[in-house]
Amino acid sequence: RQEQRTALPLAGKKVVVTAGGTIERIDPVRYISNDSSGKMGYALAKAAAELGGEVTLIAANTRLAPPAGVRVLSVESAREMYEAALGEWSDTDILVKAAAVADYRPKTPADRKLKKTGETMTLELVKNIDILETLGKQKTRQFLIGFAAETNDVEQYAMDKLRRKNCDLLVANDVTREGAGFGIDTNVASVYDANGLVTSFPLLSKEELGLRIMELAASRLAGAAK
Ligand code: CTP
Ligand code: CA
Repeated sequence: RQEQRTALPLAGKKVVVTAGGTIERIDPVRYISNDSSGKMGYALAKAAAELGGEVTLIAANTRLAPPAGVRVLSVESAREMYEAALGEWSDTDILVKAAAVADYRPKTPADRKLKKTGETMTLELVKNIDILETLGKQKTRQFLIGFAAETNDVEQYAMDKLRRKNCDLLVANDVTREGAGFGIDTNVASVYDANGLVTSFPLLSKEELGLRIMELAASRLAGAAK
């Protein structure tokens, strides 16, 4: 039938995308975070919806308009992001971990605003849960896409993260390259799988790159289903 011939590549697939940067509280008015704008994650969510996916965007502290047809769950911290992702996990087909998750959080966030005291102040941090690694260990049919922003030794770190986190694809970029990195509308990325480099994309808009990555994931998923 007509509908079948024109079926979109992600029709019937549940796609979960995490975007933005987590905030880890020090006290009610202060926190630790990072420079992630969420643009790459939003572009991936938009692309996944355009390709027919049923998309949930887990957004941490972004200031972007949600893409059309995408369900948005807002979170603040790494812990909240993990809980949201876990809540979607059992029927997730593709998890796209574009978010910049804080590696550490203050050990004991204060419930009242801290007062200044001595000339120095020490903040004790403890490691956050690695969301991708934890879910990667529980992977059944889920297709996992990890991200890595690096300043050096991109391929080595990309392959290490891909293996350690049990990812199907790892999208890496060298943030020192012109046109790549935080806040801007373009990116330069390379994609790796367990066998090594799959493709190096040229300088692209984050929207175009999002589409290329989701198309690659859709074709890999279709190949695996055969
Ligand atoms: N990630 C995650 N949970 C964390 C840290 C990272 O899910 N606590 C995910 C990111 O969303 C990304 C991938 O893991 O998809 C790689 O993140 P990155 O920060 O590059 O890797 P780390 O393992 O934290 O290594 P490092 O920061 O030391 O380079
Ligand atoms: Ca990290």
